[in-house]
Amino acid sequence: MAKLWKGRFSKELDSRVNDFNSSVSFDSAMYREDITGSIAHVSMLGRQGIIDDGDAKKIASELAAILGDIDEGRLTIDREAEDIHMFVEEELTERLGSTGKKLHTARSRNDQVAVDLRMYLRKRIDEICGELRKLIATLVGIAEKNLETVMPGYTHLQRAQPITLAHHLMAYVEMFKRDMTRFFNCFELMNVCPLGSGALATTTYPIDREYTAKMLGFDAPCANSLDGVSDRDYCVEFCSAAALTMVHLSRLSEEIVLWCSWEFKFVELDDAYATGSSIMPQKKNPDICELIRGKTGRALGDLTTLLTMLKGIPLAYNKDMQEDKEAVFDSVDTLKQCLSVIVPMLETAKFIPANMAAAGRRGFINATDCADYLVKKGMPFRDAYGVVGRLVAKCVESGVTLDELPIDDYREESVLFEKDVYEAIDLVNCVRGRNVVGGPAPQAVQKHIDTIKNTVLKPLEEK
Ligand code: ARG
Repeated sequence: MAKLWKGRFSKELDSRVNDFNSSVSFDSAMYREDITGSIAHVSMLGRQGIIDDGDAKKIASELAAILGDIDEGRLTIDREAEDIHMFVEEELTERLGSTGKKLHTARSRNDQVAVDLRMYLRKRIDEICGELRKLIATLVGIAEKNLETVMPGYTHLQRAQPITLAHHLMAYVEMFKRDMTRFFNCFELMNVCPLGSGALATTTYPIDREYTAKMLGFDAPCANSLDGVSDRDYCVEFCSAAALTMVHLSRLSEEIVLWCSWEFKFVELDDAYATGSSIMPQKKNPDICELIRGKTGRALGDLTTLLTMLKGIPLAYNKDMQEDKEAVFDSVDTLKQCLSVIVPMLETAKFIPANMAAAGRRGFINATDCADYLVKKGMPFRDAYGVVGRLVAKCVESGVTLDELPIDDYREESVLFEKDVYEAIDLVNCVRGRNVVGGPAPQAVQKHIDTIKNTVLKPLEEK
């Protein structure tokens, strides 16, 4: 296809360069945004008398028809085109003749692509936040049913202190809540309109940038045209938010992988969300979680791609920037796909409280509570720590737990111990006792759940 910019050139582009240069194979994902942006632009041109208003209306309605045709599959995007912007303009010109050639007045692909990508990302952010909300609702749902489900909390992957499944899962809720905020912040920062920046230095036509910005749902036109066409901070910020969300999903996935193992067996995945082995008949593998963990590498790579691409390019637009889209799209697709499978996987997973409780009974996770018992009876903490350390050593030697150790053994180490120590180190009591803001006590976790329900999970109109 002859290039729209062919005037200055005396030769056809080498076909290998044409393929190398073309971005239509991926930027066609933004056809909707591209056409919407063009409709706003041409309406402004007509309103301002830059082109004939009748022509502007004709162009706008033909652009809408092109959009409908692509949506309905009546028009396929030509893979030979240089990019989506050229494709739409060429199609328009084919349909309207020389009237179509007026669309690109007072505009460049540089401001065009910048506006397209921002609009595209705004929509994806809305969708991703919707998915994150579902994930949070799912975690909250499981938490609410497991306020009393005692399990060991870990440090260094060693059993440390008693918590509940609810407390554990609500930690992830906080992470995903922050992720949502990061996406909202990214949306807010990027919601200025580059349209009208032109190639780099705006234009001499009396354009109305406020009008197009408003029409396209932006807060304002961007304040500097060079920045308008070369700013890709929002891509970095989006991919950064996506990368961190993936890291959180990956940490959760890693825990599920561990919890599915026979060594833990805290959870059993539904058959629809696990896979078998081609040789070992007994296997049930948590492939979803492993894939999420693996795909996190892609998201981190996308972020690195963008930062590296940007770091050395001078103002304003450079073709390097065409590389932004594949990284951004890959992050969008990866994150959305992961969210779409992890939510039903969690919803259908069966947690096994008995195994969590059994794990809690081994590992002396009530040792701190045992020391605290002595502290409450007046012993300085460091001394109490020493006493309980010796008690644990005794238990290890005789193969019993603190709960099973006879009272005489306790009293050998300190006469402050009385029979009520067994109550003080009972795991349920240990958890109930931690009724502090942010703590694992059912009451404290319920408060946290209520806060989440009244904020993040509240339908928008009720907020
Ligand atoms: N396909 C290009 C991109 O994605 C559009 C902008 C082209 N601008 C240019 N001056 N060649 O960046």
